[in-house]
Amino acid sequence: MKDTLIEPTSRLQGFYAISAAERISLSKKAADINSNDLAGFGNFGTLGEDLVDTFIENGVGTFSLPLGIATNFTINGQDILIPMAIEESSVVAAASFGAKLIRAGGGFQTSSTAPIMTGQVQIFIDPKTDYDTILLKNKAKILAQANHSFDRLLSRGGGAQDLSWFALPELGCVVIHLHIHTADAMGANIVNTMCETVAPLLCQILPGQTGLRILTNLCTERRATARCTIPLKAFGQQTTQGQNTVDRILMADAFAQADISRATTHNKGIMNGIDAVVIATGNDWRAVEAGAHAYCCRDGRYRPMTQWSKDHEGNLVGKLELPMALGTVGGVTKLHPTAQSALKLMGSPNSCRLAEIVCCVGLAQNLSALRALGTEGIQQGHMALHRKNLEMLHKLQ
Ligand code: MEV
Repeated sequence: MKDTLIEPTSRLQGFYAISAAERISLSKKAADINSNDLAGFGNFGTLGEDLVDTFIENGVGTFSLPLGIATNFTINGQDILIPMAIEESSVVAAASFGAKLIRAGGGFQTSSTAPIMTGQVQIFIDPKTDYDTILLKNKAKILAQANHSFDRLLSRGGGAQDLSWFALPELGCVVIHLHIHTADAMGANIVNTMCETVAPLLCQILPGQTGLRILTNLCTERRATARCTIPLKAFGQQTTQGQNTVDRILMADAFAQADISRATTHNKGIMNGIDAVVIATGNDWRAVEAGAHAYCCRDGRYRPMTQWSKDHEGNLVGKLELPMALGTVGGVTKLHPTAQSALKLMGSPNSCRLAEIVCCVGLAQNLSALRALGTEGIQQGHMALHRKNLEMLHKLQ
């Protein structure tokens, strides 16, 4: 039975101020739908209504995703279980399978840079301004201003550490980059606050008019790298079988290097694994996605995120390096009970270690996909898992 009291409308004044139950009830009327059509709303899961209201406006529930644990990972000689939040059936199995192959070669080796994020402050200036001289002369003062009232960050070894800049003459502006060590925070709030803090000073000294003040998600100074070497024997008892599989994987890699359509799907598979861990730890996967794909274009053309080759013994060698802005303190990461458990499962990593773990999952994911695609095809394994979804769908119909 329809609960039609008002015409379908999206103008719901004061919607933010009422309870979730009232929002759901009002939405049903406003969308002119049946009373049980929103049965999937109103469930607050592990977050509870208060946290949902803390995180977002107009909350009406939580959206559940399956949470799984990927096995077989050994990273820098240490075994680790990795939580993954994802709805796609074969992703956790594929990550675990890739990690098993990589384990046969001793596991993943990782590294990362310091967690430096970059903020952009755009200032419109007179084209004749000698901005180089002014900014060089005032660099220390600008950094001090950025760090003002960030004592806790400074005590953790973080803070604004450097400045760089470039002009965009066609826009009549100079863009000042603030390079900020954000310690274990993802850092968006720190960076944006610092950018807004220094903008008035920049306007005064250049002088100029303020434009945008915001971080860039292309955080090329905050990168993590995962590497692996997989012995031929991991791919089969017979050496020729191993050689054949390695060659097929390298051919798949070459296809992605040569063709942007293929590179996009290649990278989507990597992000299947990366996003799943980023989500499970309460991090901003849109930021990671944006940075990762932009990084793939750094030589002017969209490229695959991984590089695969053979060493002198014919073993398969893989590498994945990406910008990786992840936090392990603050925000959702700290408040979300599932994210907290996910971090604990991985031994409470700092932000750099988490970034490295995430890259390992991406590399394992890609290895699994390329092996399957290059040999028996993806559907055999994928469909075996997907079949369960289809069976459930048929039951519901
Ligand atoms: C599916 O979600 C991911 C793959 O398409 C990745 C790839 O093609 O490399 C299997």
